[in-house]
Amino acid sequence: MKEQLELIKQNALNALDATETPAALEELRVKLLGKKGELTAVLKMMGKLSPEERPVMGQLANAVRAEIENKLEQRKAAINASVLEAKLAAESIDVTIPGDTVELGHQHPMNQVLQQVKDIFVGLGYTVVDGPEVELASYNFTRLNIEEGHPSRDRSDTFYFNEEDSVLLRTQTSSMQIRFMENNEPPLCMLAPGRVFRKDEADATHSPMFHQIEGLVVDEHITMGDLKGALITIMRAIYGEDAQMRFRPHHFPFTEPSCEMDMQCHKCHGTGEVDGQVCSTCHGEGWIELLGAGMVHPDVLRNCGIDPEKYSGFAFGMGLERMALGRMRINDMRLLFDNDVRFLNQF
Ligand code: PHE
Repeated sequence: MKEQLELIKQNALNALDATETPAALEELRVKLLGKKGELTAVLKMMGKLSPEERPVMGQLANAVRAEIENKLEQRKAAINASVLEAKLAAESIDVTIPGDTVELGHQHPMNQVLQQVKDIFVGLGYTVVDGPEVELASYNFTRLNIEEGHPSRDRSDTFYFNEEDSVLLRTQTSSMQIRFMENNEPPLCMLAPGRVFRKDEADATHSPMFHQIEGLVVDEHITMGDLKGALITIMRAIYGEDAQMRFRPHHFPFTEPSCEMDMQCHKCHGTGEVDGQVCSTCHGEGWIELLGAGMVHPDVLRNCGIDPEKYSGFAFGMGLERMALGRMRINDMRLLFDNDVRFLNQF
């Protein structure tokens, strides 16, 4: 029986050494120490031993069991450690592998031009302000001297929100002239860029949504000369010292006198023709209309509580898209709104 126990022990220790996984270890534990295990079978035979032999064998059997249990614990710890190690190795992150590069975008060409325009005007002392795109007709039209029934208020041109036509998507940033004048005292120097909306079909130079930059200066002794000076300064800064522009007389209900300013077409350089064809960018005009401007009408000043006997002012509203087309030498406005990255990446 002693030899039998010795053999069981040796076999058990060898088997434990050879075991590699937690599952196999558990299986082996049942086989070695369980009720149907070999050791238990031997212990069951103790009854047949003589009273002298029994305690000796009992001690030996317990020692064998203790040794096996000990070894089992050791193997368990060793196997668990190697399982953990394998798991850590499998899940480890190599922080030295270069990461995926994130491609940085850049400002939209139109915003680049807007930023440039803002910088120049801020340098001239203008305050940049923002205003609502959903506007009241009184700010967009009435207080700008645009009476009820004026063609620009027509439903075919303007997006209205209600039956009374009193709430609309602003058709011009000139609404900001009123908003600024009613809240500030002269001297005033305002720049108000923003979106405007008109029921226009989209073509190379039109879009139902576009951007304007409104400017307003009100002080004592402001003249048309100040207006021309400001506009010439900004155009030269953006298009270069040799930029060609012209002022034409025009009419706006809220300025008197009024004018428009054109830039020489960047595509045909004023000739109106490209390769013997009518220039598609300026429709053969040779010039591109960039802005409307004029001296603030005395009634508009009065509508905002400013005394036209004491103060005078000028205002202008320029089309940002058209400026961007010229600045970036783009020949179709729709490209600015398509947002095709292949196009935008060129700027
Ligand atoms: N608001 C005018 C337009 O949209 C432009 C303008 C602004 C004209 C300021 C005069 C003064 O055409």
